[in-house]
Amino acid sequence: MADVTRAWSDEDMPDPEIPLDLVELLDLAVDLAHGAGRIVRDRQAGDLAVAAKSTPTDLVTEADRASERFLVEQLRARRPGDSVLGEEGAEQAGSSGIRWLLDPIDGTINFLYRLPQFAVSVAAERAGQTLVGCVHNPVSGETFMAVAGAGAWLGSRRLTAHGPASSLEHAVLGTGFSYDAARRASQGRVLAGVLPRIANLRRLGAASLDLCFVAAGRLDAYYEQGLAPWDMAAGLLVAREAGAVVSGLRGRPPDGRIAVAATPAVAGELTVLLEELGADDV
Ligand code: IPD
Repeated sequence: MADVTRAWSDEDMPDPEIPLDLVELLDLAVDLAHGAGRIVRDRQAGDLAVAAKSTPTDLVTEADRASERFLVEQLRARRPGDSVLGEEGAEQAGSSGIRWLLDPIDGTINFLYRLPQFAVSVAAERAGQTLVGCVHNPVSGETFMAVAGAGAWLGSRRLTAHGPASSLEHAVLGTGFSYDAARRASQGRVLAGVLPRIANLRRLGAASLDLCFVAAGRLDAYYEQGLAPWDMAAGLLVAREAGAVVSGLRGRPPDGRIAVAATPAVAGELTVLLEELGADDV
């Protein structure tokens, strides 16, 4: 099992009050993400055996499946009482009250095109509240992690969500688009209203990393409609624990309609704009 204490430097050690069960869950999440990351990286060199899922452009590779198999087998062996929900079909009911949300490769299209921006995303939740999250990019080696109520880290560095922009007009935003063409057209109409109000846009291709980039101040904000729980659970916790404002629109929490994460400097202006544009109705 991974030694979670190596994730934190001495001066950044998390509050000793963090309950041991959360430290254990994070330790496991990091261990799982690193193990799956090794599988994903090894498989990139071979035949990727691509198949289509929800639409002809929503793709899955043998590496996604092998990564999810590893994650599920590990959880079955190490926490047999927990529930599991994974992007590639893993669904297992448990009795412990803990549920794991697994994205075996977030950014599958980047993975396929050998763009080095994809991640394994692992989160554990209880009663709908994410407790721990880990997002690991096996190419860069970066590991983002968070514990509810305790903080977020990139490796040993504690994260605070402060991007360069002090207002929306100077902000660099991330977003993403659906695999469904009609929904993508609606997303494009919203984006047409956003673009003239910001400094610029990035479409990096992995929602979990986009959220962690807001946490690390590499983006001022990110929003996307239609994300699945496994895309966003870990990244939203990392963003929130880093001090980003994480929300849906019209006072709602982030969900499959829309998830918004922004530095405090731009969050207010961005949510007002997205509400005006009806971005939660695409
Ligand atoms: C996708 C990526 C992408 C986002 C899509 C997601 P996947 O996840 O996170 O950036 O725009 O909405 O579905 O399919 O690569 O796991």
